[in-house]
Amino acid sequence: MDQRFSLPTDHKKLLAWVDDVAALTNPDRIHWCDGSAEEYDGLCQLLVDNGTFERLSDSKRPDSFLALSDPADVARVEGRTFICSQTEADAGPTNNWRDPAEMRETLSGLFAGSMRGRTLYVVPFSMGPIGSDISKIGVQLTDSPYVAVSMRIMTRMGAAALGQLGTNGEFIPCLHSVGAPLAEGAADVPWPCNPANVYVVHFPETREIWSFGSGYGGNALLGKKCLALRIASVMARDEGWLAEHMLVLKLTSPKGVTKYVAGAFPSACGKTNLAMLIPTLPGWKVETIGDDIAWMKYGADGHLYAINPEAGFFGVAPGTGAKTNPNALATVGSNSIFTNVAKTPDGDVWWEGLAKTPPDSLTDWRGNNWTPQAGTPAAHPNSRFTTPASQCPSIAPEWEDPAGVPIDAFLFGGRRSRVVPLVFEAHNWNEGVFLAAQMSSETTAAAVGTVGELRFDPMAMLPFCGYHMGDYFSHWLKVGQKKGANPPKIFFVNWFRKGPDGDFLWPGFGENSRVLAWIFERCGGSAEATDTPIGYVPTIGENGIEVAGLNTSETDLAGLLTIDEQEWVDTFAQVRTHFARFGDKLPGEFNRQMDSFEKRLGL
Ligand code: GTP
Ligand code: SPV
Ligand code: MN
Repeated sequence: MDQRFSLPTDHKKLLAWVDDVAALTNPDRIHWCDGSAEEYDGLCQLLVDNGTFERLSDSKRPDSFLALSDPADVARVEGRTFICSQTEADAGPTNNWRDPAEMRETLSGLFAGSMRGRTLYVVPFSMGPIGSDISKIGVQLTDSPYVAVSMRIMTRMGAAALGQLGTNGEFIPCLHSVGAPLAEGAADVPWPCNPANVYVVHFPETREIWSFGSGYGGNALLGKKCLALRIASVMARDEGWLAEHMLVLKLTSPKGVTKYVAGAFPSACGKTNLAMLIPTLPGWKVETIGDDIAWMKYGADGHLYAINPEAGFFGVAPGTGAKTNPNALATVGSNSIFTNVAKTPDGDVWWEGLAKTPPDSLTDWRGNNWTPQAGTPAAHPNSRFTTPASQCPSIAPEWEDPAGVPIDAFLFGGRRSRVVPLVFEAHNWNEGVFLAAQMSSETTAAAVGTVGELRFDPMAMLPFCGYHMGDYFSHWLKVGQKKGANPPKIFFVNWFRKGPDGDFLWPGFGENSRVLAWIFERCGGSAEATDTPIGYVPTIGENGIEVAGLNTSETDLAGLLTIDEQEWVDTFAQVRTHFARFGDKLPGEFNRQMDSFEKRLGL
């Protein structure tokens, strides 16, 4: 394993760490990733040779690949995700805490020899444009070439990131193993993993990540949820900025005025779709800055400036079609990796919702023959595409601006079949933060577990906040109170309200532009609204929500915008229980907000 003669860095700390990890995990080889196209092509070919990748038809889907995972490794595993702060109180009641010293021992045992028979890839990457003062450098050590090529799409990966580190720059160490060492001469499987022993572990004080046993998504692409949210949220708390689970879009009105909107929605609740939306409202334009994560800092002018720390999209495939999200479809036309989708007989991909009628026959995500009579989905509900953001037709020219874009409005949205209206505006910052902290959403296939269960998911950060959520609420309150600052207005949206027949009341997707237009005009102070106990709800019509051309009945529209005060009152007991979990870390301001909310509802 003597490859010292050609090491691409003199960074002593990094070299020592790589040495230590190699000594612990015993890989056969070490490969320092330079991020070049040649390297990417070579690794993709290796993945084809290993049976992990299947090359898709060159005429249908050039330079693209299909990977089918182990059926036991298909989503984030929240139950095996740990925050190992020095004290349990710092992790808070919403995180799985373990004593850091004990966890290090457990992990050292698991990682010992875990890369035997495999290559250790050293993957330097930048979250955020290289050189931006909001960006952070990470280095992932992984024994998964699938992860290495995915990181090249999802981050700025390779020589430039390493160069940015110099000889003693700071980096966040991200250690990853699929946990499936190969005995001498043993044959590999297409998707090595160790589902019985998954650990996705964060040490927030020392800013370290250790992940074991899974090769899928947020468990394995450590720049994303682990670094850019769980570790970054701790850095943001300490340094006075925000690391949020938010899409960022640029909205231009028919008059050519531009505003930037950031929106927090839980996993599989519509961020990617909203970020790439094509407005049905004439004259409006949406452009994409990011689809999953936003890092935000105040600028000298008092505005919050956001960057997208990622360079690609790891998007939900099912439901992505020509009608719903044509921009995403165009983005994945080439140079993309598809995981757990179905395959057509002519070597292209397919998933539920790509088109109205499925082909007569497919190979499903488990590699079996599939027909429309099968009774099971052809693509896994959490199947995903990994694709370069630069290929997105709606990408904004300034999406890589190291200074970021100034945010005018925050949206918070969940999947709520009842209670929460299509859109409303919080009366003010503190009320907005208080409501965002009690937001709830029905669970989705993005995480292992029951789907469709209502749970509190404050700011869509429940699985991603790296510290005590009570402190996180205080941090949010503080951000809005910063002297001289001009924080965004806070709005709530819900595309998923259902009528008595169980169907969605709102057509969603491109029609969400009607809601964005109202939000835009509220930021300019000109759109009409009715004041209610929860906030400002739009009126219907030209000065409120534009409904001309919409195929929605008046009853459904009324249903979408109704505030049933009794329904809100009915949630109070649960909200109080939810807030009680945070004990004395719950901001006192929330108790005042709770009292005044009750008063507004006549209690
Ligand atoms: P993650 O990438 O997991 O964080 O998900 P996301 O928040 O980016 O969600 P995404 O945009 O991928 O949407 C998830 C699912 O919700 C897809 O199947 C979409 O088709 C569906 N969806 C998105 N927007 C809407 C909408 O406005 N209305 C309805 N009915 N469904 C939507
Ligand atoms: C999510 O679950 O919010 C995702 C997918 O974006 S993953 O990267 O797996 O976390
Ligand atoms: Mn997404």
